[in-house]
Amino acid sequence: MARVRIRLAKSSDSHALAELRYRFRTETERAAETKPRFLRRCASWMKKRFRSGAYPWRCWVLDDGKQLLGHVCVQLFEKIPNPVNDEPELHAYITNFYVVPEMRSQGLGKSLLNKVLSWCRARGTDAVILWATPGSKSLYRRCGLVEPTDIFELRY
Ligand SMILES: CC(C)(COP(=O)(O)OP(=O)(O)OC[C@H]1O[C@@H](n2cnc3c(N)ncnc32)[C@H](O)[C@@H]1OP(=O)(O)O)[C@@H](O)C(=O)NCCC(=O)NCCS
Repeated sequence: MARVRIRLAKSSDSHALAELRYRFRTETERAAETKPRFLRRCASWMKKRFRSGAYPWRCWVLDDGKQLLGHVCVQLFEKIPNPVNDEPELHAYITNFYVVPEMRSQGLGKSLLNKVLSWCRARGTDAVILWATPGSKSLYRRCGLVEPTDIFELRY
């Protein structure tokens, strides 16, 4: 099997990333938009957000030299300046975490997650947040994430 490496996404990955995004979201839900239309819209969005050095987004991909096998993205968001506690003034939101089904349960997801978590730590973020799917909770717990008791959410 070819070696799989983790690298930062580039603008030129946007079409492959949009394909994977479509695959990810339609694994469990029906698409409400045609695939070609979604791919155009999503690739164009990703091309702008994931070019090198872009802020506030970063995306890492699993690359076996021929194709992308997964990804994880993070968006930094600012906190209001705080004069006390010397708290970091950025939070991080992890999203779009995916490994293609045929490559799951080999530790690739954990490696991707550790990559983004160490980047967040080095970047000096305060909290790292994400919404977990039921099946992924054990992995998040293994990587040190906890379910807080003080977050409120309202969905319309
Ligand atoms: C979550 C995911 C990226 C993990 O990738 P992976 O390469 O299989 O991860 P690892 O091999 O490092 O770790 C395996 C862990 O992944 C999780 N996992 C396995 N299959 C899963 C699935 N179908 N859906 C969600 N999580 C899954 C479990 O936590 C598993 O740990 P466990 O065996 O102790 O239960 C991958 O399963 C996936 O893409 N799932 C579908 C999309 C998804 O749910 N993404 C998370 C959004 S919050």
